[in-house]
Amino acid sequence: MTKTDNKFLKALNGEISNIPPIWFMRQAGRYLPEYRELRNQEKDFLSFCYNPKSVCKATLQPINRFSFDAAILFSDILVVPDFLNQYVSFESGKGPVLKPIKNWDDFNNLSSDINESKISVIYEAIDLIKSKLSNDTALIGFCGAPWTVATYMIAGHGTSDQAPARCLAYNNVDLFSALIDRLITVSIEYLTGQFKAGVDVVQIFDSWAGVLPQHEFEKWSLIPIQKIINGVKNNIPNAKFIVFAKGVGSKIKSIAEIDSVRAVGIDTATDLVWARSQVSSNLALQGNLDPLVLLEGGNALNDAVLTILNEMKGHPHIFNLGHGILPQTPIAHVDKVLSLIRNGI
Ligand code: CP3
Repeated sequence: MTKTDNKFLKALNGEISNIPPIWFMRQAGRYLPEYRELRNQEKDFLSFCYNPKSVCKATLQPINRFSFDAAILFSDILVVPDFLNQYVSFESGKGPVLKPIKNWDDFNNLSSDINESKISVIYEAIDLIKSKLSNDTALIGFCGAPWTVATYMIAGHGTSDQAPARCLAYNNVDLFSALIDRLITVSIEYLTGQFKAGVDVVQIFDSWAGVLPQHEFEKWSLIPIQKIINGVKNNIPNAKFIVFAKGVGSKIKSIAEIDSVRAVGIDTATDLVWARSQVSSNLALQGNLDPLVLLEGGNALNDAVLTILNEMKGHPHIFNLGHGILPQTPIAHVDKVLSLIRNGI
């Protein structure tokens, strides 16, 4: 089998298959005992992300266990602020902790050039993954969209409403805009490097785009994503992109219209039938099983999977969750979804 036979890549080319390709956001993670074991061997999460051998192992764990149609590079969107020498750490039970950017002095402390020794380790990991990944499995690279990465850089931690970043965009638009521009430049370099190292496609995660009012969405989510895509395409003309902007509702139409976007991620709350009506018939939709129904299993899970398959019949579809898999998810429920999709039972 050659890569062109890969169902996931076919879906990105607008092809429809009776059995859709499948991968899960956050498919390498704490719900897997083999991940927890590997994680325990590392000093901390960032050291893990900068160890090519461990990154390769974590990337391949869900492929070895479930034969997903695509692997996603094991890393995190917050390596980008770390590349710029902002203080970033991941504390257990607390999530990410960064030294927040509150004023121009904090911004001026960021380096303007990427820390090459860190970024090159990730390319090394991609190279290693490619050497071990069988030809029938695609490899996805990724980065966070500038808006979502900025929400963590400004607040210094996760927030429920992204208020610190939204307020900064209102009360110091020059500073906010300078930060977004820095993230656009870095993301173009980083995604270009991922393609050169061998990924087949990249996904841009804009997990917190859904809180933005229309005009703020255009300025801080949509246009920066467009600029990143255009910048990467100047370097890699046939680059392919998946964009997952969570919670944006009717704004998916503007994302779907960006040139070279080959799939749009659909979150759990969005109606797939309506989403189909918003995009061209050859643009793949990716999603949107509720991570909570995957956690609970039973008849609710069977019904939810069959409903999605039914709703997406006749349209290019990549089966996925509507957000990342939860750490408490039973492995048997993931097996059940694969069996329902691939064997109909
Ligand atoms: O999908 C994959 O399997 C690839 C790996 C991946 C991780 N994070 C690993 C990770 C990807 C694609 C991400 C993306 C990411 N990271 C996003 C965007 C997608 C989304 O979920 O909305 C965001 C917002 C982050 C930021 C982040 N990283 C948070 C908020 C946290 C803490 C919450 C949590 O889940 O623990 C992380 C840590 C993180 N990233 C873990 C993993 C496996 C857990 C760390 C650990 O093992 O201790």
